Amino acid sequence: MAAAGSGAKAGHENWSSRSAFVLAAVGSAVGLGNMWRFPAEAGENGGGAFVLFYIFCVMLIGLPVLLSEVLIGRHGQSSAPESVRRVARDSNTSTGWSIIGSLGVFAAFLILSFYCVVGGWVLYYIGVFASDIVQTGITSGAFAGRDPGDIEGLLPSLFGDGGLMVGLNLGFLALTMFFVARGVSSGIEWVAVYLMPLFFALFLAITIYGSFTGNFSEAVAYLFTFDASKLTGEVMLAAVGQAFFSLSLGVAGMITYGSYANRDTNLGHTSGIIAGADTAVALIAGLAIFPIVFAAGLSASAGPGLMFQSLPISFQAMPFGSLIGFAFFVMVFFAALTSSVSLLEAPTAFVKDAIGMPRMVATLVVGLGAAILGVLSSLSFNEMAEFYPLNFIPLFAETNFFDTLDGVTAKLFMPIGAILTCIFVGWFADARLIDDENGLDGVLHQTWRALVRFVCPVVLTVILAYGLLS
Ligand code: TRP
Repeated sequence: MAAAGSGAKAGHENWSSRSAFVLAAVGSAVGLGNMWRFPAEAGENGGGAFVLFYIFCVMLIGLPVLLSEVLIGRHGQSSAPESVRRVARDSNTSTGWSIIGSLGVFAAFLILSFYCVVGGWVLYYIGVFASDIVQTGITSGAFAGRDPGDIEGLLPSLFGDGGLMVGLNLGFLALTMFFVARGVSSGIEWVAVYLMPLFFALFLAITIYGSFTGNFSEAVAYLFTFDASKLTGEVMLAAVGQAFFSLSLGVAGMITYGSYANRDTNLGHTSGIIAGADTAVALIAGLAIFPIVFAAGLSASAGPGLMFQSLPISFQAMPFGSLIGFAFFVMVFFAALTSSVSLLEAPTAFVKDAIGMPRMVATLVVGLGAAILGVLSSLSFNEMAEFYPLNFIPLFAETNFFDTLDGVTAKLFMPIGAILTCIFVGWFADARLIDDENGLDGVLHQTWRALVRFVCPVVLTVILAYGLLS
């Protein structure tokens, strides 16, 4: 039975090499989640306790779910719902499990729509620093002579400009569509193979720079001192949500990427590399951002404003500040683009395979949908700030369109998708088929199996219930 689905399906695209798969998957994982969301969440949840629990979640929950997802994709060799259906069929169990793929594809589409809004802000800051370089030259700090309040005000004034928000949002989405329309090996892979190494080079340079100019020891103490009293239920929930978002889990993205992997890729090892790289980037991003923030005497708990407001203020006092700021946002842009490409690819692959549309048309259809939702998200910061789409549900009361999409996907779709994936892979899928795909032996295999069958579904259900009831 296990052999029935092991060959690559005719016509289904593939990565051109194993390293292309690793880069694309790392590219999907490393994004705004690491650079923007992780430091914000860590700061808002008190630092060390959050960070250490986050690492624990990545290893005990994120990694096993990641392997389960790429494994389903590789066996299924199709878009996410069809891949799950194929694993189910080859395991003689209900093909109704394909709901995992359908829900995931829908959620990825929702995430894409607001992810591109934030991608637009990144484009804006690239422009801000580029024009600052032109005005003040390359050697000086950023924003010479301007008031810090003024620099902080850049973000609210962007938010206030509905037209600009929509334009930047659609610009970022159009770039994403361009690469997805070109296909797996010549578009998506191209972005990963060229932009990810550039990202890592810039990232390293800025971190080293930050460690010399900033307050590095205070940042290390803040991020890694474990204070058990700070580990509340809310902090745990935030940490597990962050682990999922950062690893691109629960919403079919990794099923889709796994489906382009070859038979000779060891999925167990590859998942380890993806999770390791993603976590390293998040931690290093924290170590790059917090020293600068502490040195400038700014607050660690500035939340989403940390990357877009605190950091630009701190670039003011630095030699080469405008250049560093420019490089920083270009780097974030590369990371964001390799992630948004994966968010668009999951629904596009589905439309392409299920309805039989050419890739170009499928990209346009999904992109158009994301554009419509994106405009609503962009306008929820200004013209439509008072529009609360799910006001009748307490969890989402008085939540604007943008935050509703963020909340619904992170608090509902991702955990539910992951719970179903674990139950399916752990209890219903044919054990031989799973053994054949996962690339793990001995103790590692046993551990992974136990985590997927027992630990992940139980822990996730508890966390989901807690999140919904509190
Ligand atoms: N992981 C990405 C980030 O950290 C975002 C992302 C890409 C994502 N694909 C995803 C999140 C799929 C959830 C699901 O920025």
